[in-house]
Amino acid sequence: MKKITIAIDGHSSCGKSTMAKDLAREIGYIYIDSGAMYRCCTLFALHQGLINPDGSIQTEELERRMSDIHVSFRLNAETGHPDTYLNNTCVEREIRTMEVSSHVSPIAALPFVRAAMTSQQQEIGREGGIVMDGRDIGTAVFPNAEMKVFVTASDEIRAQRRYDELIAKGESADFQQVLENLRERDRIDSTRAVAPLRQAEDALVLDNSHMSIPEQKQWLIDRFKERIHA
Ligand code: DC
Repeated sequence: MKKITIAIDGHSSCGKSTMAKDLAREIGYIYIDSGAMYRCCTLFALHQGLINPDGSIQTEELERRMSDIHVSFRLNAETGHPDTYLNNTCVEREIRTMEVSSHVSPIAALPFVRAAMTSQQQEIGREGGIVMDGRDIGTAVFPNAEMKVFVTASDEIRAQRRYDELIAKGESADFQQVLENLRERDRIDSTRAVAPLRQAEDALVLDNSHMSIPEQKQWLIDRFKERIHA
């Protein structure tokens, strides 16, 4: 049976990655977290001192250095999910810190960063058989994806999930700060000039504010079965 392309877009911390990972594992597809690629660019910029103390970015230097950024994914046998590597170093934990989260949206809004990551994503997904999550997968990266899902949930519920995740990882977090960071990211992601976050016209919408993880997984699997048998 032909393997299709599945695009899952939506707001920050709405559980897209969990759903996308679970679906990919269930149906034997490759899972790609496109947000992790923008997080790698941000981590690179932080490591290279290209983000100034006031948060502004040394864009010309970053643009010159883009070819030094190589993102790859390797399956972690223990978790069964892919880990993110930046220039052959596993950065799965480092890219999820609040420091990276608070700088990633302005980096992801830079046209040259988007162009580089979009072409890498298209290359990875060329053969289909992929579940990719992000903000612009169904609109810009794979506008012809056979299945598109747009996920959302209320701000407070999303911030609570993100806060719980940080605490579970042993990181210090303040709920109000997490909520503000999430709203600010949504604002930048939705209003940027290039490939802003928006629902594709042909996307299925899922508001998972009041759904459990197993319910979401089942919903996605049901939609996938409908799609491949249509
Ligand atoms: O999904 P996430 O929170 O890990 O994404 C990190 C940032 O990257 C977020 O601010 C939006 C941006 N992003 C994007 O612009 N396009 C994507 N396809 C995925 C993420």
